[in-house]
Amino acid sequence: MSVHVSAHPLVAHKLTLLRRQETEPTKFRDLVREISQFLLYEATADLPLAPRPISTPLAAMEGQRIGVRIGLVPILRAGLGMVEPLIELLPTAHVWHLGLYRDHHTLEPVTYYNKLPAQPDIDVCLILDPMLATGGSAVAAVDVLKAWGAAQIKFLGLIAAPEGVERLRQAHPELPIHLAAIDEQLNEKGYIVPGLGDAGDRQFGTG
Ligand code: PRP
Ligand code: URA
Repeated sequence: MSVHVSAHPLVAHKLTLLRRQETEPTKFRDLVREISQFLLYEATADLPLAPRPISTPLAAMEGQRIGVRIGLVPILRAGLGMVEPLIELLPTAHVWHLGLYRDHHTLEPVTYYNKLPAQPDIDVCLILDPMLATGGSAVAAVDVLKAWGAAQIKFLGLIAAPEGVERLRQAHPELPIHLAAIDEQLNEKGYIVPGLGDAGDRQFGTG
């Protein structure tokens, strides 16, 4: 498994603003949008290209296009905020929603919605979820996508706990993980510390 933590100064700057408890939902959503686009840029650096012949006003030339079909798989709810900024950059991507929430007592994921089509029709799945805490939700999402037949899967998140990265690494060793930061630890309630609190509540004002 390869874990990529962005070293870009803009990501560090914006992530700090995102974490601040004073940051209200409108600004929080803007920052999720901006950081997600930076992470996508880094996570797609290895996408294969295919030839695309075009004509400029001056000459015919062999251009290029992205050579694979991409699927965005947001984990509801918090992953929703990462969809629009990414589809802006990848307008032909498909979006397949997965609904998972953490049981507050066991911290284990509960699946409540799965909108994947019967047959896989994409080459690269990008799982979108701002928070990788215990790793239970991410592992469950990868399990679902693998059972479905996804060929290549990557995880895009904003903040992870070391415990979550390790759990994902144990369960799916080959999975590339792209993050803005890995924090110190989980607290006794399974929240990432220092983290940013509940990413769903902070985006949607439901705290
Ligand atoms: C959050 C987050 C992840 C999950 C991470 O969702 O968006 O999906 O927790 O925790 P884990 O790594 O321990 O599984 P939550 O369950 O709070 O649901 P929500 O997005 O609907 O608020
Ligand atoms: N989910 C969140 O939204 N935040 C955390 O810190 C952990 C799980």
